[in-house]
Amino acid sequence: MTGQSEAKSMFLAVEGVDGSGKSGVIAHLADYLASAGLPVITTREPGGTPSGEKLRALLLSGSDDAWHPMSELLLMTAARVEHVQKIILPALRTGQIIISDRFVGSTIAYQGAGRGLSEKFIRHLHAEAVGDLWPDLTIVLDIDVTVGLSRSRRRLTTEILDEGRFESIDTTFHEKIRQSFLAQAAQAPDRHVVIDASGTPEDVRKSVIAAVSAFLPHRNQP
Ligand code: TMP
Repeated sequence: MTGQSEAKSMFLAVEGVDGSGKSGVIAHLADYLASAGLPVITTREPGGTPSGEKLRALLLSGSDDAWHPMSELLLMTAARVEHVQKIILPALRTGQIIISDRFVGSTIAYQGAGRGLSEKFIRHLHAEAVGDLWPDLTIVLDIDVTVGLSRSRRRLTTEILDEGRFESIDTTFHEKIRQSFLAQAAQAPDRHVVIDASGTPEDVRKSVIAAVSAFLPHRNQP
């Protein structure tokens, strides 16, 4: 099921390896849609609700082995249930465009391809936990993992953010994440667009706006 809307809503997710430039792209896209007079909300995972943000702090800090992969999956999913029930579904029901920085595609990539948990199980859990809600469109920002990781690690240091648990893992892990996002896009091409995120921020933003503008006419009808 995608969108789950009763009005002209749209559910967009932005995915990519760490340091792929999601936050800048999301801010720009939200400004663009708002200036076109469209109702837009931005949010993120893990997080997006007060309890989800508490889980985010637990999940993204500390050492790589702070959580068993299964615990990590269940906590990511718990944060998502709160997010879907309290933020995403209400937004879709009132005809908003919601842009989420990551969604279940990240779980398939990180806990599935990265940690080695069964993708079938993750999809089943997703169906049970949130009624199999999928974004109408997922934008995958694709970039070389070494470039992404060095950007991301730099940001964590300059902003003194204690969120580096995944960035502390080796490049091989992150390469699996990148390949998973590309595979997910290839599996469902009508619901994904892959954008080369290695260009200038301006080029990347232009490509994202073009992709979303092409998709806007497909917004869910009232
Ligand atoms: P970010 O918001 O800065 O991208 O950081 C979120 C981190 O959490 C990132 O390293 C990916 C990870 N993550 C998962 O491992 N599984 C998930 O389901 C989600 C939403 C994020």
